[in-house]
Amino acid sequence: MAKPTSKSAKSGKNKPGRFAIAILAAGKGTRLKSRRPKVLHEIAGKPLLAHVVAAAREVVPPQNIFAIVGYEAERVREALASTGINFVLQREQRGTGHALMEARNALKNFKTVLVLSGDVPLIGAKTIKRVRDFHRAHRAAMTILTAEPSDPTGYGRIFRKQVKGKVSNEVERIVEQKSLRGTEGEQREVNAGMYAFATKPLYAHIGKLKTDNAHHEYYLTDMVALLGKAGEKVLALRASDSSEVFGVNTRIELAELDARLRDQKARELMLAGTTIFRPQTCDIDADVEVGPDTVIEPFVQLIGKTKIGADCRIRSYSVITNCEIGDGVLIRPGCILEDSVVRNGAQLGPYSHLRPGSDIGEGAHVGNFVETKKARLGKGSKANHLTYLGDAEIGEGVNVGAGTITCNYDGVNKHGTTIEDGAFIGSDATLVAPIRIGKGAYVGAGSCITEDVPADALALGRGRQVTKEGWASERRAKLDKAGK
Ligand code: UD1
Ligand code: CA
Repeated sequence: MAKPTSKSAKSGKNKPGRFAIAILAAGKGTRLKSRRPKVLHEIAGKPLLAHVVAAAREVVPPQNIFAIVGYEAERVREALASTGINFVLQREQRGTGHALMEARNALKNFKTVLVLSGDVPLIGAKTIKRVRDFHRAHRAAMTILTAEPSDPTGYGRIFRKQVKGKVSNEVERIVEQKSLRGTEGEQREVNAGMYAFATKPLYAHIGKLKTDNAHHEYYLTDMVALLGKAGEKVLALRASDSSEVFGVNTRIELAELDARLRDQKARELMLAGTTIFRPQTCDIDADVEVGPDTVIEPFVQLIGKTKIGADCRIRSYSVITNCEIGDGVLIRPGCILEDSVVRNGAQLGPYSHLRPGSDIGEGAHVGNFVETKKARLGKGSKANHLTYLGDAEIGEGVNVGAGTITCNYDGVNKHGTTIEDGAFIGSDATLVAPIRIGKGAYVGAGSCITEDVPADALALGRGRQVTKEGWASERRAKLDKAGK
């Protein structure tokens, strides 16, 4: 680290910064009844924790973000490694308060730390900034984001201080669901699981947390009473949108938030110029991009990092995963596309299957029951019916007849097929790779091609037809005679 007297330290560049975000992500998620850590369960195609990290990254650089991990820590770390954030290990999960005790060394040098929950995925950068600014402006020791959801069950309830008979913005205590007594359960205002702390008072008093509660855990929420007793200021700030603070504790909540996010995503796309008919039947992941005037029909799934251009039509029951689709592309019903590129004006389907590494050229056609894998189809080329194209380089203006098969696998190795520009492959050809069909060449229908075909040649690889005149009527006569 730079010496405190150095120029860069003075300008604050090499300092850890004054503001950090810690994300609680160590819990197992018992209520999900899963072997997978809770924060890696997905909504809108992305782990819960990834949603929270994305919001945090809009507020601070990744080096100021600390995810506190514990249960299956390595899996969580791996899943989020590309974000560049830091990880702190909470070896034993002894509660949300304990998580912050374990992160003391990582966090204590920041002036303010904002704590988010890894299982509250809809939280937005705007709300994070609002809590930070409110906390700073009021010089509070702790600020709690609160909400009033229509059903407060499961959340910790907020009890505010009364000052001169009036409810103030100071909080007296938080009571967890299991500890609610008498009418306390009627309290609608809940703890959203997001806090700002001044680190000095936090770490001066966190050691006093006790585990005398229903779960025998160190509750972070008990900091309210502890700080209050120490004469520190603990404030509540109500969220402007209570749906942002929904937590995921069960698979039912997981499905609800997934639906909510997808609904939101569809609305964003529609407002930006994409037509989506019956959007509630479509599944569109958070990171998908779609251009204007593209029409998405009912029951379409757009998954992962899929990017679709303008003026396309994606017809019903197509599932498109991590693909790049150009402009003016028509995808007829029932196509399955994965890790592939489809260029401008191409037409697919119905029922085309593009497996990883397919690249369908401009204006090219791929028809029904055609499967491609690591296959490039040049501009204007066509493979319209019942075909398998694997490990194939196909030039421009090529016609691949119905039922054509590239025999790319010899039982041990994969081999490539090259078909040059303008070639014509007759129906039901089998092309035994490695093989090259030259420019403008013809392959006769029903051929089994085992040797390269030079440019402009005709290749036939089939038995000659034998025709026996009168054979059928002679046979019928014989059978009649035998009385059969
Ligand atoms: C917590 C709050 C509750 C609030 C709710 C909002 C406490 C005691 N209660 O309850 O007041 O209304 O969130 O969603 O904090 N975690 C760790 N280490 C642990 C335990 C938990 O990192 O030892 C993480 C979990 O992975 C999770 C987060 O902390 O991401 C919250 O834990 P969870 O058990 O879900 O708390 P809630 O019961 O929802
Ligand atoms: Ca929770």
